[in-house]
Amino acid sequence: MNQAPVAVFDSGVGGLTVVNALRRELPDENILYLGDTARVPYGGKTQRTIERYSEEISRMLVGEGAKMIVVACNTASALALPHLREILSVDVEGVIAPGVRAALATTRSGHIAIMGTKATIGSGAYERALCEARSDIQVTSVPCPLLVPLIEEGLLEDEVTDMVLSRYLAPLRESGADTLVLGCTHYPLLARAISRCVGEKLTLVDSAANCAHAVAETLNRNGLRASSSQSGKLRLGFTDPPDRFLEVAGRVLGLDTTGAELRHVPPLD
Ligand code: DGL
Repeated sequence: MNQAPVAVFDSGVGGLTVVNALRRELPDENILYLGDTARVPYGGKTQRTIERYSEEISRMLVGEGAKMIVVACNTASALALPHLREILSVDVEGVIAPGVRAALATTRSGHIAIMGTKATIGSGAYERALCEARSDIQVTSVPCPLLVPLIEEGLLEDEVTDMVLSRYLAPLRESGADTLVLGCTHYPLLARAISRCVGEKLTLVDSAANCAHAVAETLNRNGLRASSSQSGKLRLGFTDPPDRFLEVAGRVLGLDTTGAELRHVPPLD
């Protein structure tokens, strides 16, 4: 069982930012990644649909022997985590709680900004978790629906993306927030453009490192760590044929993306 893979899923390539952190924290673990590129973006879809997609993918990955599921998607974490935890026989880690911990460790002013998909922001998941952890925290949230499609198109350094960012993030400039949570696992791929747009007053944080840490703790607690006799393998799958952007994202993140496979996710009965 310990050599069984940790399975990670996202709507597209964004979850690779979490895979990157997992590879650093847990180099011996085998990782099985599924990017649902045929159905990306999730961020404008309803909770019911996001739960269904997440359940289909998770059941497939557990069926393939995954010892744990990592929901490397803020949208699915915000809307489908309780459902997945109820129906699955393995532990499930999401990215909202780790992002909240990163933000709380960074803020000095106690005013935190969140950017995310429409569904993530609309769910209020970050706001709730932040206020539960610290009732004096002030939160400003901005939905950024066009960013995932722009990232999946590979427009990481592009004037169109800069214009969209400038429109979405304008309310943050004079808001008094000192910390900006990249509340979508795609956004670290845009970190340079986002920093350029918001300037130095805001420190960017994301969930990846804290999520990897939480996964390590869960595996340790359950006695499920892989033996360190060989380094872990990364197996990548996508529901639409991988295009050139996968290679670009791999280069940005320092991940070998060759050998990515086309996968079919069976629908629920
Ligand atoms: N990476 C996903 C997230 O963190 C993107 C969601 C989408 O497909 O809209 O929310």
